[in-house]
Amino acid sequence: MSIFECSNCGAQYPKWQGQCGECGKWGAISGQENGNIAESEAKIDPYTQNSAAIRLKVGISEVESVLGGGIVPGSLILLTGDPGIGKSTLVCQIIDSFCCQNQGQVLYVAGEESLSQISMRMSRIKSNFERVSFTSETGISPVINFIKKNKPSLVVVDSIQTVFDEKTDSAPGSPAQIRAVCGMMLSSAKQTNIPIIAIGHITKEGSFAGPQTLAHMVDVVLYLEGDSLYNYRLLRSVKNRFGPTNQVGVFTMGGDGLCEVKNPSELFLSNRKENMPGSVISVIVEGVRPFLVEIQALTNSTSYGYPKRAASGFDLSRLELILAVLQRRGGLKLQSQDVFVNIAGGLRAKDPALDLAAALAIASSLSNLTVPEKSIAIGEIGLAGEIRPVSRFEDRVSEARRVGFEKFLCPKINSTKSQGLVMIDNVTNAIEILTGQKK
Ligand code: TYD
Ligand code: MG
Repeated sequence: MSIFECSNCGAQYPKWQGQCGECGKWGAISGQENGNIAESEAKIDPYTQNSAAIRLKVGISEVESVLGGGIVPGSLILLTGDPGIGKSTLVCQIIDSFCCQNQGQVLYVAGEESLSQISMRMSRIKSNFERVSFTSETGISPVINFIKKNKPSLVVVDSIQTVFDEKTDSAPGSPAQIRAVCGMMLSSAKQTNIPIIAIGHITKEGSFAGPQTLAHMVDVVLYLEGDSLYNYRLLRSVKNRFGPTNQVGVFTMGGDGLCEVKNPSELFLSNRKENMPGSVISVIVEGVRPFLVEIQALTNSTSYGYPKRAASGFDLSRLELILAVLQRRGGLKLQSQDVFVNIAGGLRAKDPALDLAAALAIASSLSNLTVPEKSIAIGEIGLAGEIRPVSRFEDRVSEARRVGFEKFLCPKINSTKSQGLVMIDNVTNAIEILTGQKK
């Protein structure tokens, strides 16, 4: 009996059909023989206890913490992100610092750029490529044979979309090719115990450009994000078989590559003008790291019939909700006001703890009054206008305290460290903070 499989998502069907019912892709289903079971029997490998503890140091602490302490030998790491965001730059820096920490060669499989382009980048970030072997070979079998023979200590593939398997009958970059190449790299990494970092492209929608099964195959998926108009970059792990997925590495892109940011709060608060109406500071948590951000709002009377609401970095539907609550529960006259909300520095955040700061910023811009000095606002807003508690409250407050803030506008909570907490019940109380009726 034969079965039919989708080359995009791997879904199986008893009959051929034009469109895959799972992923919706057309023309990706083809037949496969469902063979009989062979005679051979599984071999049992002995369990070795201490192999779990070994990690190869990278030497860049932001990368190490995202990886959960370093690179696990024999792991396959997928690094994805928007085009031009700095994936190749990050990989070059990892290679440079990896060579300083560990002995041995690094193999760089360059399918995307020529050697001169890579060496231009390497010299721009002042990295040393004495111990790097480059190859522009994009057939996966010759690359794996090289790895088996020469045993480099790290392999980098830039990018997985450019390498191909000769035996698979489709173009490089197609889902079937990526899956075949990834499977071969995975088994090579496991057999030789040599880690592989593969760069992968993402689609316009922001997901990995390849079969969805790929994220299940690899050990670690790292995502480098940021805005190409701003210089900050966040490195997250979306999946990690050997560590937590809630760490975030923060970098800035400069003239000589990515630079670690140990203190993100200061990065996102730089260039801030204090005591400006419409500006309120809050704390977001990315992974497990709290850092401070500035929420700016501007209200302006509408010149055309329909008021305009725009948000940059802030969720627009969240903004609409906050405006409705401010209007209905707080009594603010926003019907004929254009409202613009912005998170300074180009950061995009979805943390509900920003609600209170956004509401205060809007009310502050409308009334031209400022929030008290050295204060930050943390809290989610409910539809009844109530201010609700948020996760990791203590962490957020201690980060703000460390940066020098003294007053914390927050929901009613039971806190042992209540110094400086100004507890707010609802949006009406929040607006009173601005007019000074509630201290
Ligand atoms: P790159 O690593 O090539 O991106 P990706 O591999 O993700 O496509 O980096 C591209 C951008 O980074 C490019 O627009 C220039 C910028 N850049 C710097 O600002 N400073 C640097 O030192 C380097 C190497 C690149
Ligand atoms: Mg690149």
